[in-house]
Amino acid sequence: MTMILPTPTGSSSVTTGEVRLTVRNLRKVFADDPKPALAMLRQGATKAEVLQRLNVNVGVAEASFDIRAGEIFVIMGLSGSGKSTVIRMLNRLVEPSEGEIRLDGRDLTRLSRSDLVSVLRRDMSMVFQSFALLPNRTALENAAFGLEVAGMPRAQRRTAALAALDRVGLSAYADRYPGELSGGMQQRVGLARALAKNPTIMLMDEAFSALDPLIRADMQGELLRLQREDARTIVFISHDADEAMRLADRIAVMEEGRIAQIGTPAEILRSPADDYVRAFFRGVDASRLLRARDLAQPPGSAAGEGFGEHGEPRFRYRTDGAGLFRGVVATGRAGDGATALFGLEPADADAPLQSLLGRVAAAPCPLPVVEADGRFVGVISRAALLAALDRGASAEVRHG
Ligand SMILES: Nc1ncnc2c1ncn2[C@@H]1O[C@H](COP(=O)(O)OP(=O)(O)OP(=O)(O)O)[C@@H](O)[C@H]1O
Ligand SMILES: [Mg+2]
Repeated sequence: MTMILPTPTGSSSVTTGEVRLTVRNLRKVFADDPKPALAMLRQGATKAEVLQRLNVNVGVAEASFDIRAGEIFVIMGLSGSGKSTVIRMLNRLVEPSEGEIRLDGRDLTRLSRSDLVSVLRRDMSMVFQSFALLPNRTALENAAFGLEVAGMPRAQRRTAALAALDRVGLSAYADRYPGELSGGMQQRVGLARALAKNPTIMLMDEAFSALDPLIRADMQGELLRLQREDARTIVFISHDADEAMRLADRIAVMEEGRIAQIGTPAEILRSPADDYVRAFFRGVDASRLLRARDLAQPPGSAAGEGFGEHGEPRFRYRTDGAGLFRGVVATGRAGDGATALFGLEPADADAPLQSLLGRVAAAPCPLPVVEADGRFVGVISRAALLAALDRGASAEVRHG
């Protein structure tokens, strides 16, 4: 028999794809001569300091991140924090002032316009918040627009556009004009237009923000459904914490032109980097989003619980040689040697926290968590549970 102290995996979503986009030290300043502002930013100056000293508006002070194949990477942040500027630099709709953007290892910032255009044609589509549909063209013609610009023959682009409309549930509306469609339907046409190109990367800037809440939730579900089939690489900008939490494999939170934190939704909920990040997710219901594995800690690290008067552990979590959970042992006071194994049903690592509140509260010891195959993941203490659920309240206090 072996005792192991496993490290919790610490993430609710697994993104295993290779890195597709690498962004390093990307900056954008809006000035005829960007050099002085860039020099300040490299020294760590804030956007406000550059504005004050040089009267130059900074779009992005510094951004570095990797995006992996098949992941939905959500960028969040207050208005003016630089989200659109970042995403628009990825396809050079906005020309970076400096920095690297590598797509599959190739630096896009160094490509000639014509090389860039051919890369973008093959790999990237962008979906905007304003649906940006052409009013005098039908849904089908709008969906085919990107292909037309790319020079695809008519019959072929018609087939591709129809297939894309079908995928967003609009094939019956192919001959309708945008004015005859609801906002949600127009947004679907915008999505179909992006899909018709069959891009490996989709850039979506507040794509669903103009929709009312029910249709918006619908579109999020639609995107997740499509994503299960296609596994594209998606960069998605959102203002909305719930939307970000629902869609994201990972989230980057932007603050004043810099990235305040990058992490999985669970990582960010569990340990926000600062009060700005914490405030963003204040209203999010952590018990719905976090799973048992997100809170599981090695036994013994759960502060203030499961320990006797003298700091000795009151419980031991037994595993076999293969790391499979075998049960909990209650250890007696030092010296008396009494131990008892009790049959406590462990929690499934993927169980939503919400379903475990009662069990964590009622269990005599921190609740053990196991993988589906029985491997021991760690334990959830009452203290850890309360801390996770209490984020909102403490954030409020800190913000006074
Ligand atoms: N063309 C431009 N000229 C000058 N300043 C600009 C330009 N475009 C953006 N900016 C500035 O860059 C900063 C970042 O703007 P950006 O549009 O990227 O923000 P955002 O996070 O997308 O905001 P929102 O949530 O309102 O869309 C802002 O201070 C903005 O004023
Ligand atoms: Mg924007």
